[in-house]
Amino acid sequence: MTASPGVHVFDDPEGLARRAADLVAEAVREGARTLVLAGGSTPRRTYQLLATEPLPWGRVTVLFGDERCVPPDHPESNYLTAKRELLDRVHPGSLHRIPGELGAEVAAARYDAIVRDLSPLDLVLLGMGPDGHTASLFPGHAALHAAGYAVAVHDAPKPPPERVSLTLGALREARQVVFLVVGEDKAAALVRARRGEVPAGMIPGARYLVDRAAVGRPGT
Ligand code: 6PG
Repeated sequence: MTASPGVHVFDDPEGLARRAADLVAEAVREGARTLVLAGGSTPRRTYQLLATEPLPWGRVTVLFGDERCVPPDHPESNYLTAKRELLDRVHPGSLHRIPGELGAEVAAARYDAIVRDLSPLDLVLLGMGPDGHTASLFPGHAALHAAGYAVAVHDAPKPPPERVSLTLGALREARQVVFLVVGEDKAAALVRARRGEVPAGMIPGARYLVDRAAVGRPGT
């Protein structure tokens, strides 16, 4: 069911995850070569479902929308989540992890060169925070205006404070961007995103897969 152009509402997170996994599978089957994984907790179920899809993973390059500046085996690592739920089971042809453990500036510089070479990216999965941030691009944060393809993020409002993120420019250049948004704590941000007021609303043409809780009650 579509609430408005670009927004697809699902009765529950499981239905949303199923659709998200199907969208990725369709894109890969149609030739998508670069797949950017979202961080946070929302995509976990999508990754678990995607791991069961028989796809030509050998021709897929996996990248990340953002990473925290922690080691790759740290519980806060976005890479670790993707590894456990997906990457250990599907073995993509190539994988570009954001080396956050090197520090935000060094990691961003290295990732910028990688993403620059691979852009425009074929399919980008993104989450959204309750403040409307996406990847590690936070409302009013200087990193939102960064040039290039990857940016160091210091003092992020969502811990940990040191991060690396794809830039708004890199996200806007992508061929397909799909947001996965679950939970009533995202409802206010989703309204603001639809108005283009927060980073998660600054990518023209993006699609939003949202659950009913994130849409909020009519009239609220
Ligand atoms: C991160 C994520 C971030 C995340 C949102 C939603 O590194 O924190 O990339 O942008 O997608 O904060 O997080 P949840 O899915 O956990 O709600």
